[in-house]
Amino acid sequence: MPTHPSFDLIARPYRWMECLTLGRSLEHCRLHFLPNLLQQRRALILGDGDGRFLAELLNQNSRLRADAVDTSGAMLHLLSQRCEVRAPNASTRLTTHQANALTCPLDGPYDLVVTHFFLDCLTQPDLEILINHIAPTLSQDALWLVSDFHIPNGLMRLPAKILVRSLYLAFRILTNLRTTKLPNHASPLQKAGLTQIARQHRLAGLLVTELWQFQSAAR
Ligand SMILES: C[S@@+](CC[C@H](N)C(=O)[O-])C[C@H]1O[C@@H](n2cnc3c(N)ncnc32)[C@H](O)[C@@H]1O
Repeated sequence: MPTHPSFDLIARPYRWMECLTLGRSLEHCRLHFLPNLLQQRRALILGDGDGRFLAELLNQNSRLRADAVDTSGAMLHLLSQRCEVRAPNASTRLTTHQANALTCPLDGPYDLVVTHFFLDCLTQPDLEILINHIAPTLSQDALWLVSDFHIPNGLMRLPAKILVRSLYLAFRILTNLRTTKLPNHASPLQKAGLTQIARQHRLAGLLVTELWQFQSAAR
């Protein structure tokens, strides 16, 4: 059993596991704000998994250069292959880094950060370390796109709690992920100078995708 989580084993079946559990809902979340990202030039993509989002982003934004960071070599391999197929010149515009996003050296400034279903792999203290690590590399008005699971209020609260618990249990067994509850990303993002500018939810609030914008206090 590895000490650190490893997504290598589930890299190939990840897409099908996702489709079997939640259909195309995650994919709709990832792509919802894509039209808002076509003017960005320098992106930091954290834990994008098999690269379905990044391939589409590079395809639709032909002037974007991206750094993709992931601890899983198998995921990064799939991501590179997928980007190469979907986007012209992807190899000249994409740099992959097999590294921990909390500590990897960063080559900013970035005008876009993307974390789709990645922040929920982190504990609250690690999430805060990550945001403090990234914030100094953001350019003025940079966008941060976040998609994550969410526990809504009302009738869906209990089913959502049960589903999220089951997913964490499955990831614990399959990847050794030790996180057990959804962290709160809103407060640390606000503290770091970001403001939520758009939000969309799916499946009665179980999935959210949010666009945040950075504005330096020293403006
Ligand atoms: C749950 S998957 C999400 C994949 C994809 N973003 C999506 O939308 O489905 C989490 C991804 O983050 C990566 N990951 C987990 N912890 C990480 C860390 N500390 N640093 C970098 N990547 C990490 C995993 O290897 C995996 O590819």
